[in-house]
Amino acid sequence: MTTANPSAGASAAPTAEQETALSPVRIWDWPVRVFHWLAVACFAGAWLTSESERLHLVHITCGYTLAGLVAFRVVWGLLDTGPARFANFVRSPAAAWRYLCSLLSERPLHYTGHNPAGALAIVALLGLIALTVGLGWATETERLPAWLDEGHELAANALMALVVVHLLGVAVGSLRHRENLPRAMLTGFKRGLPGEGLKRTRAWLGVLILAAVLGFWAWQWQSAPQVTPGLGDGAATPLGAPLGQGGEGDRDDDDD
Ligand code: HEM
Ligand code: HEM
Repeated sequence: MTTANPSAGASAAPTAEQETALSPVRIWDWPVRVFHWLAVACFAGAWLTSESERLHLVHITCGYTLAGLVAFRVVWGLLDTGPARFANFVRSPAAAWRYLCSLLSERPLHYTGHNPAGALAIVALLGLIALTVGLGWATETERLPAWLDEGHELAANALMALVVVHLLGVAVGSLRHRENLPRAMLTGFKRGLPGEGLKRTRAWLGVLILAAVLGFWAWQWQSAPQVTPGLGDGAATPLGAPLGQGGEGDRDDDDD
């Protein structure tokens, strides 16, 4: 296995000593991990509630939370100095192709941070989340031109397809590098060279993100108008989304 340094991005073949020196080092700080697992929960929440009239507030709350998380991740990708920094892991398509080809070889390139193919998927995921939420908001507030009527749903389906690609990539990477990548995203530890590990884990920022998200959810919950089934009149939520159409049913029912 060839190791590439996440910050330098170089993929120089390691010496035999370097290969044996690979040991668990802390690579993902708290903000990245809290961001990731909240994004997973919100994506699942938005997807599972997408067809329900009754759970529409949950749907848009998950969507807006995702947008906030993406905004945070973009800022963090510019400000951080470690492996979460975009400049330290986003590479050219050619580098992604080289990495993918190396997966077929006996000695796949190993990156302590994100590999270049995963990095492209990550950038696309962040962009597509923003687009999906933007189109959701435009649908909700009726700002969408007629030709983009299906835009939100199409973007959400494309996002789901990309998530599947992301999961396949994580599974292949885990198998080829014999390294449990989802666990690494939980614990923060991946195999790397001594000295590549983070000096600071910034737990306070992880706590701050979690508190901001919980606070937003509580605010959405509190400001939601009480809806008596059958009497709802489409009052507005804090973010301008009509709520309580009076129906208990799902969106599917509307089409019947
Ligand atoms: C249970 C499902 C999921 C698992 C197990 C999973 C696992 C992972 C793993 C292991 C990584 C790090 C990859 C590496 O080592 O380079 C990662 C990164 C990432 N994943 Fe997922 N993922 C899941 C679902 C999702 C979903 C639903 C989204 C977005 C809608 C998502 C967005 C991202 C992003 C943006 C990153 C980059 C993290 C960062 O640098 O901040 N993931 N994921
Ligand atoms: C990334 C986050 C989101 C995902 C994955 C998502 C997913 C979806 C999906 C798959 C549907 C189609 C349901 C059907 O089959 O009818 C849908 C519908 C809808 N969503 Fe979202 N959504 C997200 C965020 C939002 C946000 C933030 C808003 C509003 C501010 C929103 C508003 C709506 C509305 C009004 C509909 C019904 C109209 C339509 O189908 O275009 N969504 N969403």
